[in-house]
Amino acid sequence: MIEEPVMKTGSKTQPFSRSKSDNAPIPIVAVPETSMARIMLKDTELNRVLGGGLVRGEIILIGGDPGIGKSTLLLQMAISEPITVLYVSGEESEQQIKMRAERIGIQNPHCHLLIETDVAQIIHHAKGMLPDLLIIDSIQTLFYPEIESAPGSVSQVRECTALLLRFAKESNTPVFLIGHITKEGSIAGPKVLEHMVDAVLQFEGDRNHFYRLLRTVKNRFGSTNELGIYEMQGNGLRMVENPSEILITNTDGTLSGTCIATTIEGLRPLQVEVQALVSSAAYGTPQRSSNGFDAKRLNMLLAVLEKRCAFRLATKDVFLNIAGGIKVDDPAVDLAVIMAVLSSNADLPIDRSYTFAAEVGLSGEIRPVNRMETRIMEAEKLGYSHIFVSEYNKGLKQGAYAIELIACKKLEEIVRRVFG
Ligand code: TYD
Ligand code: MG
Repeated sequence: MIEEPVMKTGSKTQPFSRSKSDNAPIPIVAVPETSMARIMLKDTELNRVLGGGLVRGEIILIGGDPGIGKSTLLLQMAISEPITVLYVSGEESEQQIKMRAERIGIQNPHCHLLIETDVAQIIHHAKGMLPDLLIIDSIQTLFYPEIESAPGSVSQVRECTALLLRFAKESNTPVFLIGHITKEGSIAGPKVLEHMVDAVLQFEGDRNHFYRLLRTVKNRFGSTNELGIYEMQGNGLRMVENPSEILITNTDGTLSGTCIATTIEGLRPLQVEVQALVSSAAYGTPQRSSNGFDAKRLNMLLAVLEKRCAFRLATKDVFLNIAGGIKVDDPAVDLAVIMAVLSSNADLPIDRSYTFAAEVGLSGEIRPVNRMETRIMEAEKLGYSHIFVSEYNKGLKQGAYAIELIACKKLEEIVRRVFG
């Protein structure tokens, strides 16, 4: 239950509510076809995530942990795209924003700054200026004076969003809202905020690493399987067109405990490096620690190893890490996790030109994963020599690819192939 203060008396009607409506039901076939006018941005990652450019009049919420780079991403867009932009900040001063903009490099003289938190004032200025794009940093700092609760409260956030939504639809201006994430991981404010907007994007990454992922959580104008990848640099965010190359550490292939997995994030295939360290447990319960991979799943895979391959892992500490601060939740990484653990345990390196893509079942069977074709093409494109997959994948033709397919049914077969 959430407490919601009522509005001040004297403003009983909703601020912009329609007094009369001339809308009447019409047959769907009679609705005029308009090609959705999209603004193509220079930022191709953002275009992709938005489903092929920015739709006029759409309202987009972008969420993420503090310091991840939300303001940087949108400011960078504001100062590089050749369109009129109104960048409203309730968090930083003009000087702070200017400093950051200079760091990134200002290419767009038509970017305007406004330091304001009163939503009525913001809309007043936006209506006067009619920019091609309105950016609000952040929705939690805005307030509507008619409501007596503090900025960031449920009713303020909802009311401010409703007013901005109205502005977006009436003026056909796309609006970006930056939103903070609560400790529970949801975008602060009511869940209703996510329902109100047209698209919800999530900006994520590990602050100790440079990679940032922009995911679509909801999109009324495109697919939600899209993923944009950026690298945070000294002078702003750089688009990463070929993510696989940067996520893999360059080594000469003599290190044990690392293994490459061919995974799919959203719609994009990615090569990720799984790193494992297995050492003798000094006392008592062995330690298990996992970074970027589900810890429960790791325990399960270790149990499978114990049972099927007779590895005495119960006396070992196991640490697992996915390189680059990436979080994976694709079952196709299972096989690479097991191989990395075995590699570290036996201190035998795995050939760097091998890549793995299969789920491992409870009985040690190698299970098929989806979109195998895409994974194989990606591995082939990046010059891997062998890809280890499940024999149960349908429709895979040996010899149809330049990369060698090694299809197995059981874990034991793969272990024998890789470690001899
Ligand atoms: P910021 O964009 O303010 O994050 P948010 O709005 O999500 O809270 O923070 C960006 C972080 O990135 C900040 O710690 C400084 C750093 N940064 C760079 O590394 N390079 C840059 O060019 C810029 C502008 C920021
Ligand atoms: Mg910010």
